[in-house]
Amino acid sequence: MKVPLLDLKPQYAAIKDEIREAIDRVCDSQYFILGPEVADFERAVAEFCGTRCAVGMSSGTDALLAALMAIGVGPNDEVMTSSYSFFASAAVIVRLGARPVFVDIDPVSFNLDPEAAVSRITPRSRAIMPVHLFGRCADVAPMMEAAEAHGLVVIEDAAQALSAKDEAGRRAGALGQMGCFSFFPSKNLGGFGDGGMVTTDDEELAEMLRVLRMQGGAPKYEHKVVGGNFRLDALQAAVLRVKLKYLDGWSGGRRANADRYRALFEENGLLDQVRVPEDVPGHVYNQFVIRVPDRDRLREFMTEREIGTEIYYPIPLHLQESMSYLGYKEGDLPEAEAAARESLALPVYPELTEEQQRYVVGTIREFYG
Ligand SMILES: Cc1ncc(COP(=O)(O)O)c(C=O)c1O
Repeated sequence: MKVPLLDLKPQYAAIKDEIREAIDRVCDSQYFILGPEVADFERAVAEFCGTRCAVGMSSGTDALLAALMAIGVGPNDEVMTSSYSFFASAAVIVRLGARPVFVDIDPVSFNLDPEAAVSRITPRSRAIMPVHLFGRCADVAPMMEAAEAHGLVVIEDAAQALSAKDEAGRRAGALGQMGCFSFFPSKNLGGFGDGGMVTTDDEELAEMLRVLRMQGGAPKYEHKVVGGNFRLDALQAAVLRVKLKYLDGWSGGRRANADRYRALFEENGLLDQVRVPEDVPGHVYNQFVIRVPDRDRLREFMTEREIGTEIYYPIPLHLQESMSYLGYKEGDLPEAEAAARESLALPVYPELTEEQQRYVVGTIREFYG
């Protein structure tokens, strides 16, 4: 049996007519960049997240970059973020000439450890960037408290977490001063190409983000600040607007699959070898990531049996070659390093069948048996 890590085709088949209609509407309008489709989608995302504003961006990376630019992060500034994340979380800090301060993770949630983050605040700190990794909200409240006390800004890297909620039931994107989302096709709300969004309650920041995404021109051709081309396409917004209606349902499907995996791992007596993600409310499982001994050999074994898996992420950010100038060495952030050695993402997309999940868990049992 083949079990891909992600299969987007069944999702598309279920809503194909609606999507085609939305694409046709944009084609008929010949209005391709920003405009009413983007404005409509921004309103919908703001309402969905419970924030006053949402500003469409060209990608999750550009959303993070623009958020840092909007608060004026630059040389000599420090920004704290998790060492166990996608590379963009750190790259945007470096691109502005600022210094990423890598913080270790909590080994259970995979998210940046709030106490460790707060302990690294210095007079140069400008922002804390928690990442809601794999679709589970980071514990943002202690970071917000410390940020207020020290005049910092909390920017959520919520690229993997649209529709996730924290323990109090608040949506990712509404927990810090700004929330940054990605609509890369493999995200829970995936576009037909790149796209991103910044959510915020702060009207002034939102206005600055709108200016930054248009090369910093306001009014047009007058540039008091330098921005970039960070605009969201109308075609992406139209597609994403259709899909947003289904997002909570899809997230429910992912949660149900995660529950079934937990039950199957237990049923198969695998909980000594396999550490499964904790069952927390509000987790939307953009990835279902287990921790296992002998991970690389298990992955090979599963690949041979046509099961798609992925390693998110094999090298923690503080050990990336491009970050070597920062002076981190192996052993500095042991939890991030252990996670990089042991983690393995399994298929968890909403349309995955019970039979496929049984095959995945049965194959893992075969390996350890
Ligand atoms: C945690 C995290 N941050 C940032 C990004 C960057 O998003 P994008 O690929 O849309 O630029 C991604 C996704 O790829 C991500 O997973």
